[in-house]
Amino acid sequence: MATRTETKSDNLSATQKQQPSEVAPDLDQRSHETQKFGEIVKLPNGLSEKVCKDSVALLNQCLADTITLRDMYKKHHWQVVGPTFNQLHLMYDQHFEAQVLIVDILAERIQLLGGIALAMAADIAETTKIKRPPRGREPAAVQIRRLAEAHEHIIIEARKAAKAVDEAGDDGSNDVFVSNVLRTNELQVWFLTEHLVAASPVSA
Ligand SMILES: [Fe+2]
Repeated sequence: MATRTETKSDNLSATQKQQPSEVAPDLDQRSHETQKFGEIVKLPNGLSEKVCKDSVALLNQCLADTITLRDMYKKHHWQVVGPTFNQLHLMYDQHFEAQVLIVDILAERIQLLGGIALAMAADIAETTKIKRPPRGREPAAVQIRRLAEAHEHIIIEARKAAKAVDEAGDDGSNDVFVSNVLRTNELQVWFLTEHLVAASPVSA
């Protein structure tokens, strides 16, 4: 009787045959959350867990409001109309870019304190205290008024937060609230609101 030639595959055990290839990605990755939102992983930074937790809460609120303001700048950058279109279109994007930097500074400050930074749009929408603008287009003057109101909210809260973290001994967070959040927002309010002055460019 003829016999089949034995191949290398026949010699592998059943377990060995089921093993994925060494170069095939295993996409079935699942896990529980390794750190819950609101929990602090204590790092050797000379601050107590309570101080880190309190600072993280203030930083996350500022982060949610800053992300909302950042996105409002892009909305208005796209939707602006009128004779000052080009100037506002460009200024809105400059302010957007500055807010992008603040967002990253806030989020990384939260992480380095052992916390978890808010990130996703739905979580930002649930957390921000800045009033939601309509989906539709509004006149440039209304855009500026909305932005100025959002800035003022962030400025008021940043001053309060700066004092709170300073009293708790968290100098690094105090520096972020003052040097990054407060100073940038104050500057942008100036640039914005000068556009609401009814001054003629050709007569006094
Ligand atoms: Fe653009």
